[in-house]
Amino acid sequence: MLPSCHITGAFLIFASRTNPGKNYNRMFDLVTDSVRPEGLKRQDETRQGEAYAPFANDPNTYKKRFYIESYGCQMNFADSEIVASILNQQGFGATRNVEEADLIFINTCSIREKAEQTVRKRLTEFRKLKDQKKGMLVGVLGCMAERLKSKFLEEEKLVDLVVGPDAYRTLPGLVEEAEGGQKAVNVLLSREETYADISPVRLDSNGVSAFVSIMRGCNNMCSFCVVPFTRGRERSRDTESIIHECRDLFEKGYREVTLLGQNVDSYYYVNDKANETITFGKLLERVALISPLLRVRFSTSHPKDITDEVLHIMAQYENICRYIHLPVQSGSSRVLQLMNRTYTREWYMAKVDRIRELMPDCGISSDIIAGFCTEEERDHQDTLSIMEHSRYDMSYMFFYSERPGTLAQRRYKDDVPEDIKKRRLQEIVELQNRLSLESNQQDLGKTFKVLIEGNSKRSETDWMGRNSQNKVIVFPKETYELKKGDYVMVNVTDCTQATLLGKIVN
Ligand code: 5AD
Ligand code: SF4
Repeated sequence: MLPSCHITGAFLIFASRTNPGKNYNRMFDLVTDSVRPEGLKRQDETRQGEAYAPFANDPNTYKKRFYIESYGCQMNFADSEIVASILNQQGFGATRNVEEADLIFINTCSIREKAEQTVRKRLTEFRKLKDQKKGMLVGVLGCMAERLKSKFLEEEKLVDLVVGPDAYRTLPGLVEEAEGGQKAVNVLLSREETYADISPVRLDSNGVSAFVSIMRGCNNMCSFCVVPFTRGRERSRDTESIIHECRDLFEKGYREVTLLGQNVDSYYYVNDKANETITFGKLLERVALISPLLRVRFSTSHPKDITDEVLHIMAQYENICRYIHLPVQSGSSRVLQLMNRTYTREWYMAKVDRIRELMPDCGISSDIIAGFCTEEERDHQDTLSIMEHSRYDMSYMFFYSERPGTLAQRRYKDDVPEDIKKRRLQEIVELQNRLSLESNQQDLGKTFKVLIEGNSKRSETDWMGRNSQNKVIVFPKETYELKKGDYVMVNVTDCTQATLLGKIVN
């Protein structure tokens, strides 16, 4: 049996896709032995450390080749596609083969300590390659850049370039500097940069679903979280550029877009020319109107920001998927206050009830942290009971990992012993396993509209797709003339905790 990965993950990651030659770097807190879902939509352990290139046999000739490996959240994976676009324009071509590369980039994540350790280990391996190949350059991108720039560049001499998430436009110049033997660094954060005009190179695309970044940064200052420091202030991308990108994807044959941001519900764009203000609800509607054949998803929602306007718009359009990732983090109002989440247990539960009232069939998933500072047994019990109340279809579960510079690190003591953190996390995982199985069992006998994403991992005679609720469904191809990107009605005949199994219905 393959190891499970559905309990892992920093932010949000996409479908696992075929990925030859990748290395399976584990950056996660806990892995159980349960069944691996066919294709995780969000943070997927198997995507960590993926190296992508857009096409196997690229006919173009390039002056240099770059290799890029990505860790962490969906935003990071989407950013790697922007980096690829910027480098492409400068005459650099992507390669999946690290040994062939002149430039090696690692797009890093800082969300938990373990993620950082993984990157460090990888950099040491690249260092060895670099020693064997003259002129090869290694660069660190993303969230670790700011905090570890001097350590990587000067102290440990691991890398030649360090580039933060808002400085990718300066990459070509920095590469030149590094080629000239200088240590090239730009970790400046910006209040404006959204890379709105850059058309991402889809690095590992199934050709069906794509990720579209709609905002960057985060202003929320959850006390455990390093993101506001590594990715800076929140800013929304120009609406027209988002619509343009989504329409273009649809015209190229894509059938699903996921609108990405650390906190998508606070999307807010003022179009001075049209004298118009676009909220997230309005944006969702505009994307949904591109075509009824284009599915729209989004991630992540902060419970405090998801409005009735958004819920009503979701309910109104069939192609806006019935699925909300609504991280709770803790079920205890006291802990939530220390986390600076700005809602109470009761408020969160009322939000879940409201979602179910407006969309009874909506899938809901969560992020949960075990063992935050001062957490007591009764707080932990509150977390378990809020999970029962919310009946999550799926959760990403972590134990608390103190991050330098965060509010929690400055204000509170990381005082829950590791064995207790792990025991509580285990209980959370076990409960989620039961909830996921029960949720899937409830779908037995139901028929869903499924978007085909490709072959099932286990058999070429089966398709793998997803229903609106983001559940993976595997079903035999039979003799139907279908292809990926098609919609098909599938009746659920069986399930595991992670996957629905079904049969095509006419
Ligand atoms: N420790 C553990 N988990 C964390 N997350 C964010 N910061 C930390 C931390 N310091 C989790 C939260 C968040 C998800 C992306 O990662 O649950 O929603
Ligand atoms: Fe971090 Fe909170 Fe912002 Fe999410 S909403 S990125 S958890 S600060």
